[in-house]
Amino acid sequence: MSLFSLRGVSREYVREGRTTRALDDVSLDIEEGTQLGIVGESGSGKTTLIRMLTALDQPTRGHVLFRGKPVASREARPVLRSQVQVVFQDPRSSLDPRMTVRRIVTEPLRSHLLRGRSDIPADAHARFDDVMDAVGLDPEMGSRYPHEFSGGQRQRIAIARALAPKPSVLIADEPVSALDVSVRAQVLNTLTGLVRSQDLTLIVVSHDLGVIRHVCEQVVVVRRGRIVERGGAVEVFANPQQSYTRELVQAMPVLPGRTSMRTGEGAASAEV
Ligand SMILES: Nc1ncnc2c1ncn2[C@@H]1O[C@H](COP(=O)(O)OP(=O)(O)OP(=O)(O)O)[C@@H](O)[C@H]1O
Ligand SMILES: [Mg+2]
Repeated sequence: MSLFSLRGVSREYVREGRTTRALDDVSLDIEEGTQLGIVGESGSGKTTLIRMLTALDQPTRGHVLFRGKPVASREARPVLRSQVQVVFQDPRSSLDPRMTVRRIVTEPLRSHLLRGRSDIPADAHARFDDVMDAVGLDPEMGSRYPHEFSGGQRQRIAIARALAPKPSVLIADEPVSALDVSVRAQVLNTLTGLVRSQDLTLIVVSHDLGVIRHVCEQVVVVRRGRIVERGGAVEVFANPQQSYTRELVQAMPVLPGRTSMRTGEGAASAEV
């Protein structure tokens, strides 16, 4: 059974009488233990696809299943919540400005009974140090608030929060696009380390094919709400079948593979 199955999924948005088809009849199986990259130009439907997987949004047509159950069903929701973590594209809107970073990152570690209370479980402090280290942030900064960080640091806080509960599935929408090269390498190495050591299933949206090439074995290429190409990341990038994919590959600043070599060099690999 697949981890996620999309069957004929379409999502239309109607605004002021105009219809945008953000997803158009998408069918896709995502297997447990895989690392899947989602690429495509801006507005092609990547974030919409992720919102479907996590039941943040409902399809206009079609079905989304999580381990065979409708993703929004009573059976699927609690499992999804405990095992799947999401890093959103814009960390500004996903980090509560009233909470300290320590609280934000450890919030997923509290039982629902403790949520909203200020006490943090003792073992959560050690976990906080580990995940902050893994994303290259000083745990001493735990008492600060999100607005006291740069955009790239906030992105790393969002990644640390997602890693804290040791999810089996991590879905990340442009997780490293705001980061400079050295920090990007560290975060990517953290992710690949987790894939190896903990069998993490990874679903990553990125416009940077080098990032996808570095962390993903599978790739789907999305254009105007449709999947136009899919397959092993190495093969698709080396030998794209569609002109659209060729254009994406050609638009890369460095050849695929070379980027990933560079991002991997000399960076500390953290196991969390
Ligand atoms: N809530 C919404 N209301 C109306 N239109 C929307 C909404 N969300 C997305 N869209 C439209 O759906 C299409 C796909 O959007 P989506 O955010 O999935 O693109 P994307 O591939 O993630 O783009 P980017 O790379 O810029 O993040 C776009 O045309 C967008 O304008
Ligand atoms: Mg997006």
